[in-house]
Amino acid sequence: MAGSSEEAPDYGRGVVITDDWPGYDLNLFTYPQHYYGDLEYVLIPHGIVVDRTERLAKDIMKDIGNCDIMVLCVLKGGYKFCADLVEHLKNISRNSDQFVSMKVDFIRLKSYKNVLIVEDVVGTGRTMKALLGSIEKYKPNMIKVASLLVKRRPRSDGFRPDYVGFEIPDLFVVGYALDYNEYFRDLNHICVINEHGKEKYRV
Ligand code: IMP
Ligand code: MG
Repeated sequence: MAGSSEEAPDYGRGVVITDDWPGYDLNLFTYPQHYYGDLEYVLIPHGIVVDRTERLAKDIMKDIGNCDIMVLCVLKGGYKFCADLVEHLKNISRNSDQFVSMKVDFIRLKSYKNVLIVEDVVGTGRTMKALLGSIEKYKPNMIKVASLLVKRRPRSDGFRPDYVGFEIPDLFVVGYALDYNEYFRDLNHICVINEHGKEKYRV
């Protein structure tokens, strides 16, 4: 029977971008002139990031809707994802019988009750583990983590966010608020930087 023995897809990994994914040619999209020559290819176009974020908002609403939450944005890289995610949560709240009342903060610790941490990318997972450790001291009722990207790493310590936008190869990526030495936050698409770009913006 077709499909009966196949495993169900693991939606917890988000959209899986495999290691052999060549990306999209930069010339098929628009991007700022000052980054011409500095990028290798588009890994995830901006429109797909926004569409995936819309679905994550729906999943979050299903799990933790109808309550009051504190959205904790991990600056600086998380600001675009956080802003778009909050916008989608607001839309669902307005246009369905589900609601969520939100406050937004930018990593400043005080006593929070229900916390949704919004992060740009989990690489080794060390940053998120340290952050969770410091937030747990305040004994919140609930902590959930949403990360736009999770890198597939050979020696991952296994930290898994509750909500994942995309699982990506272990590459350094920029754009959509992710930076290389503070550059490329003004790029919409998530792209892979090339050697020329690394050299140009090296500190
Ligand atoms: P981790 O502690 O290795 O999980 O790294 C997480 C932090 O490093 C993220 O919050 C980012 O600020 C930064 N980071 C890791 N990988 C990238 C990348 O590919 N592009 C931009 N920033 C990154
Ligand atoms: Mg970050």
